Amino acid sequence: MAAAWTTLEKTYAMIKPDAVGAGNAELILRAAEDAGFIVVKAARTTLSRERAGEFYAEHRGKPFFPNLVSFMSSGPIVAVCLAKTNAIADWRALMGPTNTLVAREEKPKSLRALYGTDGTKNATHGSDSLVSASRELKFFFPNMTLDPVPEGAEAREF
Ligand code: TYD
Ligand code: MG
Repeated sequence: MAAAWTTLEKTYAMIKPDAVGAGNAELILRAAEDAGFIVVKAARTTLSRERAGEFYAEHRGKPFFPNLVSFMSSGPIVAVCLAKTNAIADWRALMGPTNTLVAREEKPKSLRALYGTDGTKNATHGSDSLVSASRELKFFFPNMTLDPVPEGAEAREF
């Protein structure tokens, strides 16, 4: 029997404004499921400039930060919690390299190669560690239970 999602590693994935605006959100969620991820939650929302800056606080002060904040607050995003064994690393592998132009060269079937445009408009986000997954999931889903709960407990949040 497949493991309950509650016991699986979780990651924060995001479909960025370019991919949502192009109508590719459903395709990307289906690609995640086809790759073995459980879509635990998916919520459409729009980030203010302030929230976008807070989400990407680690990049504050870098030359690309203002463009990144403008892009990320330019339209709706889909905030997603994915669950799978090795979810964090596997989702980043499915996304491919950060820059879509590099992704097209190195990993042409990756999500960023297929659905992104350039080094900023790159269609998807994925947490890069357990610590950032926890922070990012709480940032979008503050009421979510992140600790594993016993099988059979009433904790499903699909
Ligand atoms: P980063 O955390 O380095 O990449 P990743 O999304 O793969 O974890 O950067 C965060 C986002 O910032 C990235 O998805 C796109 C944007 N970005 C730029 O616009 N220009 C850049 O030169 C870099 C490195 C990132
Ligand atoms: Mg990153």
